Amino acid sequence: MASITIRNLDESAKQALRRRAAGNGRSMEEEARLLLAGLAELDVPPAAAAESVQPERVSTAPPAIAGFPAAGKRVLLILGGGIAAYKCLDLIRRLRERGVAVRPVMTAAAGEFITPLSVGALAADRVFTDLFDREDEQDVGHIRLARDCDMIVVAPATADLMAKMANGLANDLASAVLLATRRPVLVAPAMNPAMWAHRATQRNVETLRRDGIHFIGPMEGEMAESREAGRGRMAEPLEIVERIGELLDTRPKPLRGRRAIVTSGPTHEPIDPVRYIANRSSGKQGHAIAAALADLGAEVILVSGPVAIPDPRGCETVHVESAREMQRMVEAALPADIAVMVAAVADWRSKAEATEKMKKEGGKGPSHLELTENPDILKGLGHHVRRPGLLIGFAAETEKIVEHARAKLDRKKADWIVANDVSPDSGIGEKAGGVMGGDRNRVRILSRDGVEEWPEMGKREVARRLAARIAETLARQAAKA
Ligand code: C5P
Repeated sequence: MASITIRNLDESAKQALRRRAAGNGRSMEEEARLLLAGLAELDVPPAAAAESVQPERVSTAPPAIAGFPAAGKRVLLILGGGIAAYKCLDLIRRLRERGVAVRPVMTAAAGEFITPLSVGALAADRVFTDLFDREDEQDVGHIRLARDCDMIVVAPATADLMAKMANGLANDLASAVLLATRRPVLVAPAMNPAMWAHRATQRNVETLRRDGIHFIGPMEGEMAESREAGRGRMAEPLEIVERIGELLDTRPKPLRGRRAIVTSGPTHEPIDPVRYIANRSSGKQGHAIAAALADLGAEVILVSGPVAIPDPRGCETVHVESAREMQRMVEAALPADIAVMVAAVADWRSKAEATEKMKKEGGKGPSHLELTENPDILKGLGHHVRRPGLLIGFAAETEKIVEHARAKLDRKKADWIVANDVSPDSGIGEKAGGVMGGDRNRVRILSRDGVEEWPEMGKREVARRLAARIAETLARQAAKA
């Protein structure tokens, strides 16, 4: 129960509560919580429009949803200053109905968007706002706030808050707590798309990822500001809840504690500001593998080229355009136990990227395009000092599949190569074009032990089986070690 609310009660109500609590041998907070819980059972409407209800009348005990993996855990929720802060009222409610305790910290800017009163009422805890609040510091203190929780969630995470985190600033309660914590931190960014895309923000995001901070979103779509769209929307409360569940889930899963990097989709190699070199990869197979590894408990960083499919559940998805960007983000995600390089990385890029749109030059035909080779990300990992424990590549071939895949295994120092026939006449899938862009696949797994042929199946099934095989292999290696 929010002691802030008890403090705000008038003297006679406080006296009555004190007497009642003493009589029942409980603390005032406990007594108030039980009273309100009793009221909630009589009370009918739950907090539908949270901002418009009187906090004291809000049910503090939302209906329980059983079986949530993080039930009984404590989340410290840091609310930043952004319009998306209103979604966090729902986030708090969703967490509490799943049995998660939420202790809120608000930045000064967050208070411009939602009130501590609504936040405290929904969280049924006091709201911490001030680094130098004498009462708070004596009672709880920012160090205890940082430690008395199972994880910290920052939502909405503004560009400013992330910049502070990336640089270790601690000039307010939120940033001091973030610097003092040793708990896992999940960040849900929300900002204008131009601010998200800015190099400074991207630099900070990269630093935070290297520091082990988990991200969810931002998502693509309409912004709250009129006529603004792009990547910058905060993830939806239920998506954040699901991610919290995954991060705090302690049930045994074969890949728990393992970190995986997956690449997926094509890359786009710029020729000029409007043109690029690309390929037909849809990202379906890579995204399915990332999701399957996450389902088995791995912490997955998916580095995806431009695709038209949604980010998979339970993974941290990093969006990139070119091969060089993809390589940078893959290396930033090291170390890893598993790396599955599924992306159809463009082999070449234009040697010089024109800063202005290239002209047709009066009907003389296309001007000469000089190409240069892209870095080979898989090969780079194979030879890396921090080579992932299990390194898996893909080989999309149209002929001599096994022969080419075997050569790749050696050249790139991979452990396995998953070879598939991407020729349009492979007979796979109903659509013309076969494997690329389709939903089905037929693969062969090449390792130094030999070749294993799998029958044709859906890409999700390929992903599920591959993830299971990865889990078995790592378990066997661990048993030997
Ligand atoms: O040499 P090839 O492109 O056929 O190799 C395919 C494998 O290598 C895939 O796993 C792909 O993701 C990876 N690759 C890479 N970087 C490149 C080219 C391919 O990681 N530049």
